[in-house]
Amino acid sequence: MGLSEKTIEIVKATAKPVADNGEAITTRMYEILFANHPETKELFKDASSDQHKKLATAVAAYAANIDNLSVLDKAIEKMAQTHVNTAVKPEHYPMVGVSLLQAVKDVLGDAATDDVIEAWKEAYFFLGDVLIAREKELYATA
Ligand code: HEM
Repeated sequence: MGLSEKTIEIVKATAKPVADNGEAITTRMYEILFANHPETKELFKDASSDQHKKLATAVAAYAANIDNLSVLDKAIEKMAQTHVNTAVKPEHYPMVGVSLLQAVKDVLGDAATDDVIEAWKEAYFFLGDVLIAREKELYATA
């Protein structure tokens, strides 16, 4: 199932504030994730200190291209391969998703209305499902 028109509209309209605050949002996201799910810290043990920039860039690029995801094919393939190399599993996606949405709320404040959060939630899990499906294939052939 694709994303609704409303979600696409809201995510595109909020792509800039999210990208402009990308580092603050992802830094806050890791803070929430590691506090609530300390076991996920282990996955990031070899991560470079600029990992949060990569995630911020990915989220921003995704938002900008939400109605034309094929331009992100190569980036998605790289993410999936990195995730498989670091043992990311489907059950981690809701942990990161909830943390990311809370971080968007914390950083954007009043600009993060319920409609905005709902749209980003739909968009995050849509991309998450694409990644989970590709990672499942990669795990099966590993
Ligand atoms: C839609 C959701 C997600 C997006 C957009 C995303 C994005 C990314 C990107 C862009 C990279 C860098 C890839 C590279 O340059 O090689 C990455 C790496 C990584 N991601 Fe994700 N990710 C998502 C979900 C998750 C989840 C659920 C986890 C599990 C906690 C996770 C854990 C990691 C880890 C451990 C790395 C490697 C860090 C390192 O060693 O440098 N990601 N992700």
